[in-house]
Amino acid sequence: RDWHRDWSSDVCSSDLLYVIMSENRRILVTSALPYANGSIHLGHLLEHIQTDIWTRFQRLRGNECYSVCADDAHGTPVMLKAQELGITPEEMVARTRAEHHQDLLDFHVEYDNYYVTHSPENKALCEEIYTRLDNAGYISKRTINQLYDPQKEMFLPDRFVKGTCPSCGAEDQNGDSCDVCGATYSPTEVKNPRSVVSGATPVLKESEHFFFDLPKFEDMLKGWIRSGALQEEMANKLQEWFTEGLQQWDISRDAPYFGFEIPGAPNKFFYVWVDAPVGYMASFKNFCDQNNLEFDDFWKADSDAELYHFIGKDITYFHCLFWPAMLEGAGYRKPTGVNIHGFVTVNGAKMSKSRGTFIKGRTYLDHLNPEYLRYYFASKLGDSVTDIDLNFTDFAQKVNSDLVGKVVNIASRCASFITKRFDGKLSDNVLEPELITEFQNAADTIADLFERRRYHQAIREIMTLADKANQFIDTNAPWVTIKDETKQQFTHDVCSLGINMFRLLVIYLKPVLPVLAEKAEGFLNDEFTWSSLETVLTGHAINKFKPMMQRVEMEKVDAMVDDSKENLEPAKPTVNPDSPLGKDPISETISFDDFAKVDLRIARIANAEHVEKADKLLRLELDLGGETKQVFAGIKSAYSPEALIGKHTVMVANLAPRKMRFGMSEGMVLAAGPGGDELYILEPHEGALPGMRVK
Ligand code: 2FM
Ligand code: ZN
Repeated sequence: RDWHRDWSSDVCSSDLLYVIMSENRRILVTSALPYANGSIHLGHLLEHIQTDIWTRFQRLRGNECYSVCADDAHGTPVMLKAQELGITPEEMVARTRAEHHQDLLDFHVEYDNYYVTHSPENKALCEEIYTRLDNAGYISKRTINQLYDPQKEMFLPDRFVKGTCPSCGAEDQNGDSCDVCGATYSPTEVKNPRSVVSGATPVLKESEHFFFDLPKFEDMLKGWIRSGALQEEMANKLQEWFTEGLQQWDISRDAPYFGFEIPGAPNKFFYVWVDAPVGYMASFKNFCDQNNLEFDDFWKADSDAELYHFIGKDITYFHCLFWPAMLEGAGYRKPTGVNIHGFVTVNGAKMSKSRGTFIKGRTYLDHLNPEYLRYYFASKLGDSVTDIDLNFTDFAQKVNSDLVGKVVNIASRCASFITKRFDGKLSDNVLEPELITEFQNAADTIADLFERRRYHQAIREIMTLADKANQFIDTNAPWVTIKDETKQQFTHDVCSLGINMFRLLVIYLKPVLPVLAEKAEGFLNDEFTWSSLETVLTGHAINKFKPMMQRVEMEKVDAMVDDSKENLEPAKPTVNPDSPLGKDPISETISFDDFAKVDLRIARIANAEHVEKADKLLRLELDLGGETKQVFAGIKSAYSPEALIGKHTVMVANLAPRKMRFGMSEGMVLAAGPGGDELYILEPHEGALPGMRVK
């Protein structure tokens, strides 16, 4: 291999140069751990595909490369989702993990271990790391004030608080930031806060929390981010965080919390972002124990194995500050690289449930071949953090023209002649050796591009070669020469060269398109590794060509989008048609916010009387404990005025007053039933006093 080309023009740290050039590399690769409370979607897939291509490339090159992932099991959202489903979090996590794993496998994303963070290995490693950090003096305790949901009896994470933005006054904003003015703030600053979990007004409550002393690692981190571990743009971004100043990191959460209890601190749990990255180690530990590998070889402080994390830009802070600091503080090695990618947009916009562009992995698989997506993402992925747009027209066009029209077409144009006319055997001659050499000489450039995650450039190189192969076939037109008895050898040589060029292209594409590569291996009776590039098949028996890839049909893309459109109609309840529910089905759902607008109050019916000339209405005077409202209620057929006086009921107190023929109606009382004499006003339990809010 020519590893000695001119590197000087590339931005490349000497460390990275060293690892790329060394032989016998031992590499461990991870993707971010998907949360166990949602499905795998195209956003996840960009990353898993990026990681899988890189891992497959390393293995193809003969490096010892392992990849691990897991479900990220812990935290409040997982806990609440399980409660909502009426199952234990363990049960939910087990289900979701299995579903995620299968989704990934169906995209040919293959980890050596796909584990879960709720595991004995992870618990042990978290405890060990925490204890080491504590012993080294990196943990401190401090009492903080936090919003607490008095109804649900739990502390509220920032995004479980909503309210009015303290900066611009916009209503219904998140507990930590405002979508309208972009302000960020603490949830305790939010005006009119409410708990997203129960709707209750949160109260401030004290609790002792554990903090990790991140600022102590500032110098180490400053060095590490410039060690070649990060893309330059991200290293610059991190510089801003140093300028703002590093803070103590709150690593504990109070019960109830689905997670690992902190040793020696009953009812205190590790914040999910502590045990999640440790989950990388735990998944690998679990793999090592089953495969006779030394965990420490990869994780000890002076390990010479390489460690790479593939992540999205939104979780940079966790992986580039907290995580290396935790590792360093606990005496472990730090990552060789954190490879950060941007987000996925679809047709130029953020993925949207209503437009049908929030596409789940499973929905994609129901309609389209996973290798289309692997190829498309590869053709767009570089080593920068810019977002990747999936444009469906471009997607179909690229797959159809590059893979079906160029690559597979080379084989299909040459194979049948070999089978029918030349006994299924490739020629002993190499017609244009310099053409083959050109294909082979691209190996170092292409390898370098894969290594540096510049997949889009690698794909461009490969497609330039594919164009050359097609030109060669066009120029020599074997379908013409085959008819000329004197040109049989020539035709055999042309088709054989075509097949050999196809073979080299598919070797290059193998990390991206493992299934296509497998089909090509079957067709050619061969097994592709990177060193297969050095050989040319001559006098070699091949098999009958079978179509290897279908064109993308736009109808299937449309059907996938349709299937992804979130159905906003609630499912119709299956109820007995004779029951009240059957006759009067539940209306369309409304948002919590819509509900919260309705101000329901306890009212005492201070007076009730008939209304002249009105055959359905009674005039009620409702006492709200300080204020009296007049309401005309259509309950005359069910109640006599006398029967109502003195009763307590519930009224809508903030209904805009309506002018009726008989006077102003300033609200509504709540009653149930189909109407007529079958109408029942709502009565609260004893103890509910006039004016009290119903919630
Ligand atoms: O952002 C996320 O989806 C997290 N579940 C990623 C965790 S990555 C690692 F730290 F475990
Ligand atoms: Zn605002």
